[in-house]
Amino acid sequence: MRRWMRWTFIWLVLACAGSAQDENQPQRIVLSWERDPATSQSVSWRTVRHLDHAVGQVVKVKEWARMFDDSARTVKARPARIKTQTGAAYTHYNVLFDRLEPGARYAYRVGCEDHWSEWNLFRTAGADSAAFSFFYLGDVQNDIRSEVAPLLRAMYADAPQSRFIVFAGDLVNRGSEDANWAEFFEAFGHILRMTPLIAAPGNHDTDKEMLDDRGNRKVDPLYLAHFAFPQDGPEADHFKETAYTLDYQCARIIVLNSNAYNDDRQLRWLESALAAPRKPWTIVLFHHPVYSTGSERDNTELRAMLAPLFEKYAVDLVLQGHDHYYGRTGKIFQGKIAAADAAAPIYAVSISGPKMYKQNQTFTHLMRRMIGETQLYQILTLSPRYLTYVCKSLDGEVKDGFTLVRQDQGTVLVEKPLPAAGCSCAVR
Ligand SMILES: [Fe+2]
Repeated sequence: MRRWMRWTFIWLVLACAGSAQDENQPQRIVLSWERDPATSQSVSWRTVRHLDHAVGQVVKVKEWARMFDDSARTVKARPARIKTQTGAAYTHYNVLFDRLEPGARYAYRVGCEDHWSEWNLFRTAGADSAAFSFFYLGDVQNDIRSEVAPLLRAMYADAPQSRFIVFAGDLVNRGSEDANWAEFFEAFGHILRMTPLIAAPGNHDTDKEMLDDRGNRKVDPLYLAHFAFPQDGPEADHFKETAYTLDYQCARIIVLNSNAYNDDRQLRWLESALAAPRKPWTIVLFHHPVYSTGSERDNTELRAMLAPLFEKYAVDLVLQGHDHYYGRTGKIFQGKIAAADAAAPIYAVSISGPKMYKQNQTFTHLMRRMIGETQLYQILTLSPRYLTYVCKSLDGEVKDGFTLVRQDQGTVLVEKPLPAAGCSCAVR
């Protein structure tokens, strides 16, 4: 009996030590940007226990990984304790690596002594003239672990050199539920530790109990805790990290919080962002579509507020989600298909998760391609002269694509992905 008790005691001590170690170990490590992607990188993660001395370490990659530990720069993390709906609490951390060299590969790890993550890699943005690719995903939202994970792996295997992923909202089904986020991070695996994320919040990322000063739902604190986005948005706290701009080489990406599409502060800010000195390509990202693809949906008020601004400032491409049915328009001006060389935006709605809706017939005359009942990912390749867009299904088949070719006066739309545009993903 005594022997049994002694072994039980030893087992308990070992079990507790193991669990304490796990509680200090970084989880949900994810890259995003709050500053210039050419000279900075933000990393977010969490631990079960609160750690006062959590840090990030960053080092420019040279030829030998053994040098990382000695030559890395250490940056103190910013912690925030978050209590989830179940009552469990976690500490979320952000670290900002700044003063980086453009166009360089870096290694980083996060944690603290004895509780480090593995070393991961990222690359800073380079010269505006260099071509690059990025992924665009519609709503992930449902059955993420079981049914979205394969699509994410197919996407990453297709173009692992892509520099970031843009999400058009509804990252999870319930933004306040930690179990949803557990699925999200498990499904992505190491992808978000290597490929930064740019996200616009969807309606499912909001908290129905929390309203802003105009009566719109606020983005859930648990969504915000996981990432670090720019804070250059409209003047109001609830737009911090939910509406912002990011410049990456030849592209300016403007992210809107369409849960508050009717907020005049965001509209004024959007116009000033569009009127600012521009990059060769302007892409706007948000959740609720201007031209709905899902049945019985039509965001008339949102369209009346946003489309005239996109047309006035010749936005090149608008990326959206929400409708669980794929649709991609030609160039559209004042509600009609415009000429291939018109200064007018193209609109896309996509879906990556398994929840599917029926087709909306209202705007079929504007669409160049509509696809139902199919999980999709998109790869966009940009250089100052070309913007190439390719939409693929889980089996790798190209389902849609086009190229915008920049000329002296505006752009010309070509209804196919041009290999000359440097898009290796179009033909495999
Ligand atoms: Fe949605």
